[in-house]
Amino acid sequence: MIAAATKAIPEATVVPNQDAAGHVTGRSLYLDDLPTFEGTLHAKIFDSPLAHGTVRRLDWSRAAQREGVVRIFSATDIPGHNNIGGIFPDEPLFATDTVTFMGQPLLLVVAESEELAEAALADIEVDIDPLPVVTDPREAFGLGQLLSPSRTFQKGDVAAAFANCAHVFSGRAETGGQEHLYLETHGAYVQPLEGSSLRVYSSTQGLRHVQETVAHLLNMGMHQVEVDVTRLGGGFGGKEDQAAMWAAMAGLAAYHLRRPVKCMPHRMEDMRMSGKRNPYSSDYRIGLDADHKIVAFEATYFQNGGAAADLSPAILERTLFHGTNTYGVAHVHLTAHSCKTNLPPNTAFRGFGGPQGMFVIEAAIDQAAKALGISTIELQRKNLMPEGYEFSYGQIVRGCHAAECWDEAARRFDLPRLQSEVETFNGANKLFKKGLALMPICFGISFTNTMMNQARALLHIYWDGSVSLSTGAVEMGQGVNTKMQQVAARSLGIRRDRIRVESTNTTRVANTSPSAASATADLNGKAVQIACAEVLERLTAVARQHLAAGDADISIGNELVHIDGIATELDWKTLVHLAFAQRVNLSAKGHYATPEIHFNKATGKGHPFAYHVYGTAITVCTVDCLRGTYEFDAVQVVHDFGKSINPLIDLGQCEGGLVQGIGWMTMEEVVYNEQGKLLSNALSTYKIPDIYSVPKVLDIHFLDAPGSDGAILRSKAVGEPPLMYGIGAFFALRNAVLAFNKNALVPYSAPMTPEKVLMGLYNPEV
Ligand code: MTE
Ligand code: HPA
Ligand code: MOS
Repeated sequence: MIAAATKAIPEATVVPNQDAAGHVTGRSLYLDDLPTFEGTLHAKIFDSPLAHGTVRRLDWSRAAQREGVVRIFSATDIPGHNNIGGIFPDEPLFATDTVTFMGQPLLLVVAESEELAEAALADIEVDIDPLPVVTDPREAFGLGQLLSPSRTFQKGDVAAAFANCAHVFSGRAETGGQEHLYLETHGAYVQPLEGSSLRVYSSTQGLRHVQETVAHLLNMGMHQVEVDVTRLGGGFGGKEDQAAMWAAMAGLAAYHLRRPVKCMPHRMEDMRMSGKRNPYSSDYRIGLDADHKIVAFEATYFQNGGAAADLSPAILERTLFHGTNTYGVAHVHLTAHSCKTNLPPNTAFRGFGGPQGMFVIEAAIDQAAKALGISTIELQRKNLMPEGYEFSYGQIVRGCHAAECWDEAARRFDLPRLQSEVETFNGANKLFKKGLALMPICFGISFTNTMMNQARALLHIYWDGSVSLSTGAVEMGQGVNTKMQQVAARSLGIRRDRIRVESTNTTRVANTSPSAASATADLNGKAVQIACAEVLERLTAVARQHLAAGDADISIGNELVHIDGIATELDWKTLVHLAFAQRVNLSAKGHYATPEIHFNKATGKGHPFAYHVYGTAITVCTVDCLRGTYEFDAVQVVHDFGKSINPLIDLGQCEGGLVQGIGWMTMEEVVYNEQGKLLSNALSTYKIPDIYSVPKVLDIHFLDAPGSDGAILRSKAVGEPPLMYGIGAFFALRNAVLAFNKNALVPYSAPMTPEKVLMGLYNPEV
């Protein structure tokens, strides 16, 4: 599969991920691979066994006596603020009087080894008087339990528009949670430095939040907390904010004990204690005119936020931004509620609420088409937004490739042939049925919180011509370090292997935004360009003087100084020596802030995104109608990468995102029982796609497109958008079920697990 896909990439454009060799040989360093400092202690969290209740008694005296236990910490040991909330200060590090979810920390046991800390947990006694547990967002809404004020985006006049529509349909759509299942679990390792300062090694996408949380917990300035990240074994949004808890735990112990402390959960602890993708339950109403144009769309989204706000209010907002996906609709009214339930606080996950919103309008369109007896595909195509369309949030679409991606996919992959193949197959087979669906996407690039769209880079050129590059970007497998190296090499006109991309560290690059929103390469890459340009200006001045070049054009390429585009004999290393001898500054900082974006939260209008990413996927599946099991024959995509600076990495992002999206829509099922206990709490009860469940054919075509000025070197952001192609898997499966049983009752409720497929096939009975 990989070989077939990569054939499409011209040899000359292949730049291997700089981490590839380290990853396959096991030499890449993750948090738990750091050499252990002498005297290191290990911390384990004692967490709430109930999802809601009043803590009557908490007794750790026996545990504290155990061999190897150094100390047990509770909320009273916090010198500063008992809070780890990011957007709102609504989440304690340790619960005190009340517990609000199962897995919520109550105590921290610190011992000489991980085993001894873990053994001591069993000796802790807790009595909790149970309180009512709410796990359903609509029930929470009914009780008035909201995490943040509800939000509305609107344009036009939906009420009047619906009154004039030829066809109106309404329904409900639901999407489930999703476990991040990064290969590397959460974790932090904190080393006390001189005075009261701390160095925090953290598996985090968001260094600033970790730094700030630890500092405020300990009543220190942020300058006393250094955070360092080499790389993550995956984050997928799960480590955007929630990494702070583990750092706070280890930080608290290291602060009091003045010894290094490591706090890392096992997989099952990680799954139990951390939040997941927000499940949503939504109501929609869609109105079409006689010509089947969507005139009005209305939706109410109930987001399951869990017990604290975490990032849910921001995720809620992105749901609204993507509520109409790729479709042009004149009258729109979208309302979203962030509902407080007794589950671990849910959090960012690839797509950040966008996928949840897009699923709802896809369900509405599918329902309308089926009720009208027309093809969903026709209805989707007819309503793709045009250039110049105004989103409900006021941004005007520029550089729209929605229809282009769709039409190119239909042409290149011969949609009419695919459709007739599916029909022929279904006519000839009784026990196997195929389904086909198209999924167009449109995803806005920029943090929806305008302030966060800034980044910095620090560049040092050493005396020998080698280069140290620091940015705020966190490498989590998405290949951003390779891209940063490429950007610097291009800017300076030197070989990539001269450039070392350093760990991400708050003392070198401060106030970082999290590596998230797919914008890491854009924001940090542009900061790198700015830093490089500054040093280059100084270096070319030295070269100009040295070569007596007058006012000719001086540039550096292939490690040589060029005059008016012609290579001289002055090479990079010699130039650096010359500059140093003349006491020229060989270091620079770059600061980038995305221009022109703005958004007014109060009015819900503005221009929040630097640009949008487009694409269309065609999904074909086969359902075994005896067993309810299924396979994906093919997912064929035309995707707008712009001018990709690294097609190999970008293709990998596209494939990975797509498969992760299929997992969310099909086999991945996060299950809590009514007591708020996570039942899908291990790899035996939570299944993510493996090599056997990826589509048999995965064909991703790069749209010939100009990219955007807002993207680094016109290479568009790629981290999240492809996940949303996975939504096509749900609709393809649903269509296959309907091909078997045209009266099947299959609610628009994801994931479409084999159990749900089976129920659909025989309900009502055929
Ligand atoms: N790819 C890998 N291998 N590992 C990850 O954790 N995270 C995704 C995406 N691709 C992720 C990944 C998410 S949620 C985002 S927002 C982007 O990468 C972040 O990186 P970028 O901004 O550099 O695209
Ligand atoms: N995307 C991802 N992460 C974020 C965002 C966003 O728009 N805003 C805040 N964190
Ligand atoms: Mo990604 S959900 O923005 O970390």
